[in-house]
Amino acid sequence: MDTLDEASALKALLDWQAELGADVAIGEMPADRYAESAASASLQGGAGTAAAAAVAMSSAAATPDPVEEAKSAAAASPTLDALAEALGAFDHCELKRGARRLVFSDGRPGARVMIVGEAPGREEDEQGKPFVGRAGQLLDRMLAAIGLDRNAPDLAQAVYITNILPWRPPQNRAPTPEEIAMLRPFVVRHVELAAPDVVIAMGNTACAGLLGQKGITRLRGSWNEFAGRPCLPMFHPAFLLRNPYAKREAWADLLSLKSRLD
Ligand code: URA
Repeated sequence: MDTLDEASALKALLDWQAELGADVAIGEMPADRYAESAASASLQGGAGTAAAAAVAMSSAAATPDPVEEAKSAAAASPTLDALAEALGAFDHCELKRGARRLVFSDGRPGARVMIVGEAPGREEDEQGKPFVGRAGQLLDRMLAAIGLDRNAPDLAQAVYITNILPWRPPQNRAPTPEEIAMLRPFVVRHVELAAPDVVIAMGNTACAGLLGQKGITRLRGSWNEFAGRPCLPMFHPAFLLRNPYAKREAWADLLSLKSRLD
């Protein structure tokens, strides 16, 4: 292969990896998974095969239900710090392995308003905080328009923010129903512990996760209930960036939130 062929073969390999979702380097040293799996296959070969199959069958029988595991881990968390720790230790969601950081929350716990978004994007994954990219900047401007600020010293003007998923999906793909269901117990507990007066469900994924409903265009603007608290579905700021004509409805929803708080 000449140098040019080799360079384009390497580039094609990189593009293929990015397409599979491996679009950031997360380890200091490269890991050769092909060599690792060849080594473990040869360890399991020959006389070990039957024993390995028996172990695999018995562990399959004992495989825990991830949703039940999530429920007990969440229920056993008495504080927000404990909940963040339990989420960090939760190993059933594949997204955790591709993400750089757990994105738990931002803003002020105890604020009257709690916002639940979808999932971290690239900037959130890098910084470990929700809504810090372009959508987050628009969210901050929307909140400021009704006198709210995620870091306001007075809890009456402050906001607390989290997402349905705490790990970035590869290439920002939409969360699957299985991922939403698996992590929902943590979100329910998160809202119970943060104890806001109102919850905002930002976009379709949040409506699916909190209310079990989809169709944000129909749901937005109508007060609902989540975990015993008033819950307002609103357009997601990323949707507003792509569809600026919908800002009029978003403004109406912000005014509805403001009058509920007043
Ligand atoms: N979109 C979300 O829903 N959450 C974030 O944290 C960032 C973008």
